[in-house]
Amino acid sequence: MSASSTSPETEPPLPRHLLGLAGVPAATINRILEEAKRFRRLVDGADKKTDLLKGRTVINLFFESSTRTRTSFELAGKRLSADVLNINTSASALQKGETWLDTVRTLEAMTPDALVIRHPESGAPHLAARALTSHCAVINAGDGTHEHPTQALLDILTIQAHKGSIKGLTVAIVGDVAHSRVARSQIHALHALEAAEIRLVGPRTLLPAAVEEALGVRVFPDADAGLEGVDVIIMLRMQLERIRGAAVPSQREYFRLYGLDRRRVARAAEDVLVMHPGPMNRGVEIASEVADGPYSVILPQVTNGLAIRMAVLNLLAGEAAA
Ligand code: CP
Repeated sequence: MSASSTSPETEPPLPRHLLGLAGVPAATINRILEEAKRFRRLVDGADKKTDLLKGRTVINLFFESSTRTRTSFELAGKRLSADVLNINTSASALQKGETWLDTVRTLEAMTPDALVIRHPESGAPHLAARALTSHCAVINAGDGTHEHPTQALLDILTIQAHKGSIKGLTVAIVGDVAHSRVARSQIHALHALEAAEIRLVGPRTLLPAAVEEALGVRVFPDADAGLEGVDVIIMLRMQLERIRGAAVPSQREYFRLYGLDRRRVARAAEDVLVMHPGPMNRGVEIASEVADGPYSVILPQVTNGLAIRMAVLNLLAGEAAA
């Protein structure tokens, strides 16, 4: 499999790092998506491995828990034949007083080609990218409440697979937007690819201030109104670990007002897609009958995550980046 089907001169430029999707042009997003579609075919085939990153090194440095993102970056690197290292931050020199940036610089001295970073503080991957002096690419695997670009890209790939195009779609993002790095990256990507309307559905206490003007979205504090006729519903996880104070009265009350059950799905378009980045809180933001129901593409999102991460690693750490 080649990194690209067209000549390098005609390709849109790639960023050196993937730190977020704010300001990333549609052409660059489409280049990653096209690459991911080729890798999705590889993932679905019998022989799932290619040697595109043979001899390259990918380091996963996760300062926060993760199941999907960490394992799919690891598998993506292995499927591309890269050497993949996973750093266990709870058993690293961080526990001996080393700063996380010194850990980053130490790992850089081992000459990796990509450093995949998840960190609880917004902006941490940006700091790491500024600290690096080598060709190594930094890929943001989720930073605080800021961005999670590969999650948004896999979501876009999933929507495209079912709807053909993002252009003209009405997408509702439901729930805890205030704490959601996923929502921010999704909004940037949906705008870049010309979604007709982006709706944020949730209580005002879980929406960032002045979000309509800042992000070009419509806000719906009433879930039934917000889901009316939408093509895609993206449920967000209640980030219970980040919520301070009484942003919602109770989980039971939250589910009554904003939880996605069969009755609420029926308000959307007939061919609506139901998505969730995971991990899901069943019975808090989504009912099992919907999560496991006919409109759900939650598990295909995970498979597309592997293809997106293969594409991003190959484009930023492979020949195209040289
Ligand atoms: N969607 C997502 O980032 O999941 P993980 O926290 O399991 O990586």
